[in-house]
Amino acid sequence: VELGVGVIGTGNIGTDHVQRLSGQISGAAVRAVFDVDAQRAGAVARSVGAVAAASAQDVIDDSSVEAVIVAAPGPVHAELTLACIAAGKPVLCEKPLAPTAQQSRQVVSAEVAHGSRLVQVGFMRRYDEGYRLLKQSVDAGIGEVLLAHCVHRNASAPATFTSEMLLTDSVIHEIDTMRWLLGDELTAATVLVPKSSPVVPAGLRDPQLVLFETARGAIVDVEMFVNCQYGYDVRCEVVGSQATAALELPVTGWVARSGARRYVVAADWLVRFAGAYREELQGWVNAARSGTAAGPSAWDGYAATAVAEACVRSLASGRRMEIALDEQPALYR
Ligand SMILES: NC(=O)c1ccc[n+]([C@@H]2O[C@H](COP(=O)([O-])OP(=O)(O)OC[C@H]3O[C@@H](n4cnc5c(N)ncnc54)[C@H](O)[C@@H]3O)[C@@H](O)[C@H]2O)c1
Repeated sequence: VELGVGVIGTGNIGTDHVQRLSGQISGAAVRAVFDVDAQRAGAVARSVGAVAAASAQDVIDDSSVEAVIVAAPGPVHAELTLACIAAGKPVLCEKPLAPTAQQSRQVVSAEVAHGSRLVQVGFMRRYDEGYRLLKQSVDAGIGEVLLAHCVHRNASAPATFTSEMLLTDSVIHEIDTMRWLLGDELTAATVLVPKSSPVVPAGLRDPQLVLFETARGAIVDVEMFVNCQYGYDVRCEVVGSQATAALELPVTGWVARSGARRYVVAADWLVRFAGAYREELQGWVNAARSGTAAGPSAWDGYAATAVAEACVRSLASGRRMEIALDEQPALYR
């Protein structure tokens, strides 16, 4: 029997998840969707033969819905994820788990009270083939990890994107990836801002450079640039005492034209991480069919928001901010 899925929020990523569930994932079918934009929800529902529900709670309560995807904007993630936990239904919550560490911590507490994992957070890079190969190399041994260099660039960002969102919405991917890849915690953050690119809206601090210190004494630098103009580009290199390991650039082939060979850069994250989104969803469906969750946890969601919050404080103050996480509950060990 197929897992009945409900989807809350049918914007960019929500619609993409719905289509992927219907076309590329086995063992699941979308039964109900909700979006505050009823027209959008209606069109998405019709495209897969699902019901357009009257509210988010109706999706969660629908008896044909056994598991839920939360793909509405960040500020409502925690409230919707808490409602899924209350209903005892597995939930894939898009990043960030919540806008604040405190709200993320509430989700952790609710899941701990429930007694077993129900929450997976949408940190899809852990499912990317390139990152998985990189993790294999790091785990196989490159000596002591000393440094990591990360680059995260988008061609352009929506006009609503703020300086803080570079940290809470974008760098948060590097925050999770580094915790996972290095098996280490980020204990301090310093955000440096060069002059802003002249093409970005007035007042937006873009690009930014974030320096993280880890519990084991490594330093991670992240260049975040959401209006780089040329495409979507994610890079990562881990420097060890014996070897360095790097993320391969996606192999896209080249085009020769007018005397030049041109390599293709992905236009956006949907293209670059298509394989990762597929693996993420299939993994989620497989776990949800057994009534549980795997992959990035609510704890990882909490840790990432706590680190992102420290970044925002550093951006505001210009100072280095230390990060202290709560004690990790046994459920996540
Ligand atoms: N993992 C990733 O790589 C990735 C990529 C893109 C977006 N995201 C995350 O997914 C979330 C959505 O991003 P998006 O790019 O799809 O945004 P979007 O603006 O395209 O879509 C959000 C949708 O949610 C709807 N919505 C707003 N309030 C709602 C509510 N209270 N209940 C139900 N629906 C509501 C909006 O009408 C809109 O259709 C964000 O948290 C974002 O950070 C993650």
